[in-house]
Formats: sequence, structure tokens, C-alpha cells
Amino acid sequence: MKTNITELPEWQALTAHHQQIATTHMQDWFDADPERFARMSLHFNDIFLDYSKNRITSETLPLLIRLASAAGLRGKIEELFTGKAVNFTEGRAALHTALRDPSATPLLQHGQDIKPAINHALQQINAFIRKVHSGEWRGSTGKPVRDIINIGIGGSHLGPLLGVNALSDYATLNLRCHFISNIDTMHVSEVLKQIDPEASLFIISSKSFTTLETTTNANTLKAWLQAQIPGKNINIHFAAVTAAAAKATAFGVPVAQIFPVWDWVGGRYSIWSSIGLPLALLIGEENFQEFLRGAHAMDEHFRHTDFEFNMPVIMALLGIWYINFFGANNHAIVPYSHQLTHLRTYLQQADMESNGKNISRDGTLLPYATGPIIWGEQGCNAQHAFHQLLHQGQHFIPVDFILVAQGQQNFAQHHDILVASGLSQAQALLYGKSYDAALAELIAAGADKTAAEILARHKSIPGNKPSNLLFVNSITPRSLGALLALYEHKIFVQGAIWNINSFDQWGVELGKQLLPRILADVTGAAELEPHDSSTRGLINHYKKVKA
Ligand code: F6P
Repeated sequence: MKTNITELPEWQALTAHHQQIATTHMQDWFDADPERFARMSLHFNDIFLDYSKNRITSETLPLLIRLASAAGLRGKIEELFTGKAVNFTEGRAALHTALRDPSATPLLQHGQDIKPAINHALQQINAFIRKVHSGEWRGSTGKPVRDIINIGIGGSHLGPLLGVNALSDYATLNLRCHFISNIDTMHVSEVLKQIDPEASLFIISSKSFTTLETTTNANTLKAWLQAQIPGKNINIHFAAVTAAAAKATAFGVPVAQIFPVWDWVGGRYSIWSSIGLPLALLIGEENFQEFLRGAHAMDEHFRHTDFEFNMPVIMALLGIWYINFFGANNHAIVPYSHQLTHLRTYLQQADMESNGKNISRDGTLLPYATGPIIWGEQGCNAQHAFHQLLHQGQHFIPVDFILVAQGQQNFAQHHDILVASGLSQAQALLYGKSYDAALAELIAAGADKTAAEILARHKSIPGNKPSNLLFVNSITPRSLGALLALYEHKIFVQGAIWNINSFDQWGVELGKQLLPRILADVTGAAELEPHDSSTRGLINHYKKVKA
């Protein structure tokens, strides 16, 4: 395929189509077509997607699908699932889908079937869950586990954090899960105040076991724990999830408590692997299996369904439509669900680390935009914070609303209000309020005509703002698995069409490279590295104020 997809006839057809419909108000399409919702919505298992409130006609999706086909999407999906080195800058596969595939069909990496290793890791996790849940696991003073503390950052943090918060209702034991990701000791101290050291299990979660934040925190916590439990061998309080088992052993983690992860699992796609250990310990073996099953069902849907009815493909194509044809540079995620509090940060890493790229597969600088800025907040909080900008601001902001049909029943009215709020925001973005309607309201309320004519301008809302609405039946291990896999595949499709590598992160690596040099200058007496005047000035300022 052409490197520059903007030269494809399919792209040019979309440009022409955009010119034709860009100024049409969605309201006109809704008025003209009572079947629009029925035609532009889709159900898959526990997830319902309404994409009718998008700036599209019945021609748009077929044109976008043609672009996807011209970009070789079908073949690229097969490459992903069959373990080709889709992470071509690091020569690796990205086989998160294999982690949730229950079939025994062999999948080769470097000539070896990886399925037995995946299975073995799951058995190891399950055996550990049983040990912890039965009380057989005891700390160095004989106490069973009460506090699980995950020490990890990025993909070794955000997935477990999201999962544990979303699925706490499924906890089968009174375990408290804590997360230490940041190197900021304020974060560390905050967690340490809440735990019982003798009943603690620290999970060092680091694929590389070299991430500075994680290794520094792990060493600090080990020293802290030893001081809390003097004279005992505290190693039993540590487990590790890593691809570098030797490093974990050197740290002192007992071999039976070292869980594997492999180079073909990307950090931000790793919740399905042993990185999910805190979640698995909290919700238990069967629920964790359900989580994997939900994701696998979405994998099957994605892999085998025609693009026209394929949920991740449709969401990805709509994103491309806005980014590349309407010039959107961002995408808001607004879940009306406290359980999905951490979805936005999870998706920030998943999407922005994956598709925040500017170089095509063959090494040329891309002449078109790629991954959007992902941002958002849970509703209704978002309404009282930034929705004003959605309604009347000048930026183009597509929104994903995520609603949950079955919420907690003990306060049923709350849940109806929550759902109605999400629906009314989506409707407000669609219709807005015309100048005439605003004026009529003011006049009806007895306002002076001249003043009303001015005020009505402020009160008129353009509408025509696009949104998807995902209705999840309820937040269960299965539906959460499906939801996360849905977004993973959406991100994959966009990267495939943009012809980029969605699985590396060289920008992040640059920060990791620079840190030791700056750290040496921050802590040392003299400047070792020549810096720009700003960095030098700031280092000196810090040293002076600190002293
Ligand atoms: O943020 C960069 C990154 O490499 C992520 O991709 C990864 O999830 C995170 O660091 C943590 O890496 P590790 O698991 O090796 O500590």
C-alpha cells in the first residue's frame, strides 16, 4: 500500500464527501430519517453502541471502510492475531489476544508454541490465589494477607488499578488493594499509613524490572518492611511479575512467587497477563477467567465480523473521520460510572502511547495527524467541570459516553438520574439550542426585547457535536474485559490505517535515557553534562532552594 494514505483515491473520496456534508446539522438527518438510530447502532454481548449521533450519512461508513480495506486492515488484523512482528521497530509480536484465547491451537513465537507457557502462568496464578484465599499463605509472623500493594507504573499499574476499582464488588475475600506507582514519597507514605506490614503482600510489577520508579520504590519498601518486622525474613512478603526473573530473584523474591510476562506482551496491553495478579487475587480465579473470556469474545467479534458491523472498527473509523477530515485533535472519554473512574487514565496510556507517532512503517514523516489527545472525567462530575466547553467552546471534541444499564439497586433513583444525565448531555450536544428558541424562552419569561436579543446569543448553543454512546449492561468481569478489548482493537485499527507502529514508545524511552544524566547533576557537586541554559538554571535553582 502507499505510505502516504492521503494519496489513496479512497482518502480523496472521503475528502470530497467531507466537503459535501461538513456543514449539515445532524438534527436534519435525524428529522429526515426516523430509522437513523436503528441503522446506526450495534449490539455485541453486554455492550450496545449507538453511533447515530455522529457527523455521518449512510455514505460515510462505506467510504471509511473502503479506506480501511485499501490500508490492508484485514491482513493486518491477521498479522496481529497470528503473532507476526507487528511491533516492527523492536522485532516483536503483540500477542495480548493469545493471553485470553482458551483454545489449545498452537501459536508459535521463535519456533515455540507459547500456549503452554500462558497456561502454565495461569495455573501458577490460580494456585497462588488458592493459597492466599485459603489462608495457607502466611506472612513472616504468621498472619494471612490483608493488604496487597502493587508497585509498578504505566502498564504495570493502570490496568490493575482500573480493574480493582471496577470490580471491587466481586471481591471474594476482605483484601485491600493499594497502588504505589509514583516515585513521590508523598504517594508512598500515604499508602504505608493504611497497611498492616505483617499482613502485607507487595507485588513488584515490572516487565523489565529496571524501571527506576518501580525499583526505587521496591527497595525503599523492602527496607521499610524490614524495619517494621525486625529479625524476620521478610522476602515472603514479596511477589514479582516480570520478564526478568533473575533480577527478581536477586531482589529476594521467592521463586514460587515470581510470575512471568513475555516480550510479546506490551506494557499497556498486559492486564491479561500475570500483571493482572492484584485483580486476580481480589476477584478470584473464576472471575478473572470471566474477565479473559469477555475480552476473548470481543477478539472473536473483531477478527471475524464484517467491518460494517464490527464495533472496534466502526469506532476507529469514526475517530479517523474526525481526526483526519474534521481536524479534531482530541477525544473525550466520559463514563457515567464510578467503577470506571480510572478508564480515562488507562485509555490515555493505551491510546496515546500506542498512536502518538509521527513516522510511518517505512520511516517517512507522516503528512497527516495520528492519535488524539485522550482526556475526560466521569459523569456527572464532568458536566460540572468541562462540559461547558463541549457545548459552546470552539474546539472539535468527539465524545464517548459510557453508560451502565444496571447500576447498584440499593439507591435505584440515583442510577436513573445518572443515566438520564448522560443521555441528556448527549442529546444537548446533538441539538444544542437555537437562537430563536433561546429568544422565545426569554420573551416568555418577560424579558425586555432588546436585552433578550443580546442575551439569546449567549444562550444559543450550536449543537451538532458528535458522540458515541456505549451502553454496558452492567460492570462485570466479562463486560469489563470486552470493553477494554474493544478499545484496544479500536486503537489497533487506527494505527493500522495510519500505517504506524502502535506497539513501541521511543518517546518514553528518551525520558528514561535522559533521567540518569540529569539525576547525576541534580545530586552531584558539579555539572557533568553540558546542558541548555534553562535546564542548567533550573538544576542550580533546585540545588540552591533545597540547600
Ligand atoms: O511508560 C513506558 C513504559 O515502558 C510502559 O510501556 C510500561 O507499561 C511502563 O513503562 C512500565 O514498564 P515496566 O513494566 O518494565 O516497569
